[in-house]
Amino acid sequence: MLRGPGRLLRVTAAPVAALAVALVSSLSRCSLLEPEDPVVSALSPYFGTKTRYEDANPGLLPNPEAPRRDPELLEETCTPVQLVALIRHGTRYPTAKQIRKLRQLHGLLQARRPGDDGTRAAGGRSLGAALANWPLWYADWMDGQLVEKGRQDMRQLALRLASLFPALFSRENYGRLQLVTSSKHRCVDSGAAFLQGLWQHYHPGVPPPDVAGDRPGRLASAYPDMECGPPRINDKLMRFFDYCEKFLTQVEKNATALYHVEAFKTGPEMQNILNKVAATLQVPVNNLSADLIQVAFFTCSFDLAIKGVKSPWCDVFDIDDAKVLEYLNDLKQYWKRGYGYTINSRSSCTLFQDIFQHLDKAIEQKKSSQPVSSPVILQFGHAETLLPLLSLMGYFKDKEPLTAYNYKEQMHRKFRSGHIVPYASNLIFVLYHCKNAKTPKEEFRVQMLLNEKVLPLAHSQQTVSLYEDLKNYYKDILQSCHTSEECDVPKVNTSDEL
Ligand SMILES: *[C@@H]1O[C@H](CO)[C@@H](O)[C@H](O)[C@H]1NC(C)=O
Ligand SMILES: *[C@@H]1O[C@H](CO)[C@@H](O)[C@H](O)[C@H]1NC(C)=O
Ligand SMILES: *[C@@H]1O[C@H](CO)[C@@H](O)[C@H](O)[C@H]1NC(C)=O
Repeated sequence: MLRGPGRLLRVTAAPVAALAVALVSSLSRCSLLEPEDPVVSALSPYFGTKTRYEDANPGLLPNPEAPRRDPELLEETCTPVQLVALIRHGTRYPTAKQIRKLRQLHGLLQARRPGDDGTRAAGGRSLGAALANWPLWYADWMDGQLVEKGRQDMRQLALRLASLFPALFSRENYGRLQLVTSSKHRCVDSGAAFLQGLWQHYHPGVPPPDVAGDRPGRLASAYPDMECGPPRINDKLMRFFDYCEKFLTQVEKNATALYHVEAFKTGPEMQNILNKVAATLQVPVNNLSADLIQVAFFTCSFDLAIKGVKSPWCDVFDIDDAKVLEYLNDLKQYWKRGYGYTINSRSSCTLFQDIFQHLDKAIEQKKSSQPVSSPVILQFGHAETLLPLLSLMGYFKDKEPLTAYNYKEQMHRKFRSGHIVPYASNLIFVLYHCKNAKTPKEEFRVQMLLNEKVLPLAHSQQTVSLYEDLKNYYKDILQSCHTSEECDVPKVNTSDEL
């Protein structure tokens, strides 16, 4: 019985369709798992949150099923007890808003008067003409949904994690796997694709069953010997930013909160790009805007990540332009999800505490010699889920804030979203039980991994910490951060005006 996805299918109508589509379309392609040589662009390192996972993490093994060892992991001396993974969805389509802007830009190119086209004189094809003829293959319905490459991101991540932590991802543990996801299609679909990857892990060489995932019954009978805990949709946990009144008032709906983003859009670095692009594409500079330039840049990233092609949109920009556009993207993340405002990270306290509650419970069970009820916990969310949490924990904090005016000074900043939260990015907490000749005293230790690489702990810069030390370092957040209070908007007493 496939209890998990079976129940997932019954959660709400929207994810039903999404999961069905996810299963049907990816099942037929599982044999294509072996990554081909990826098409690359010199601009790839600067795509920010639209970075492909393999570009941010080039050390990945070509064969995700190969056994892996990371010498920094504690495997040798301790036993892994629990793994809590926060996973951003895989590669996705552009949003409807981005597609609208792209269409506007395309219209602009097609409206160019023939006389504007310097190429006729030169007898060649200009970039503007090439772009006007380049297919606009994104349609409104795609609106941010997971693409096939995104499913592959998830299946491969599952295979690699299962190889890295074989004891935790054992067959017996599958029945106790806990899966929580944001309600967005791309996250629900990512969870389903991850489970497919696990199927491959448990049944190497056996193609996943050929099912039409339209009915829970058929889906369940297709995976007779796989059981897992009921997947749950939990937006309060995975999309906490939608539920935090103070964040919504002070940042999300506040026209001036992203002041530095807007100022940078009209600043000299962007103006320089606007002029260059207008000249290259032979369109009036007044018809262009920073937003349209940004969407052109993203289209290069989408064509690369989704279609695996290097489109002429990539030829519009050089590396210096790409660095400026990366900064524009990072500025937004910084002010909306990162250190820009305290509430950005404080709104994630409940998620942070949730992770530690899982770890606490596992330790309690282990200490009383009970089986750990949830050895593997998978939580699927967004870049907007991970960035606030990493900021809350003190990661990637620069000495100076990112502003519209310090682009040059911030060239070597830590806060680069392409390195932190590419597609399929993941933050993993691993709890170990240590009791052997070296550590005669029973101990619990923790390691963290970001994008499958050990992340040194913020308090010690070490690769491992005693669980108690970690809890002690974050005790303020664990004890005094209550979303209900943090997110409360102080009521203005208007009757004060006498
Ligand atoms: C470009 O801008 C001009 C003047 O601002 C406007 O009249 C024209 O409609 C614009 N062209 C397009 C294709 O949007
Ligand atoms: C909006 O943001 C600005 C800049 O941070 C701040 O001064 C202002 O108080 C905010 N407005 C609200 C309603 O929170
Ligand atoms: C608002 O202010 C008035 C006058 O200062 C006071 O009587 C009233 O209790 C206040 N209301 C709240 C909700 O604090």
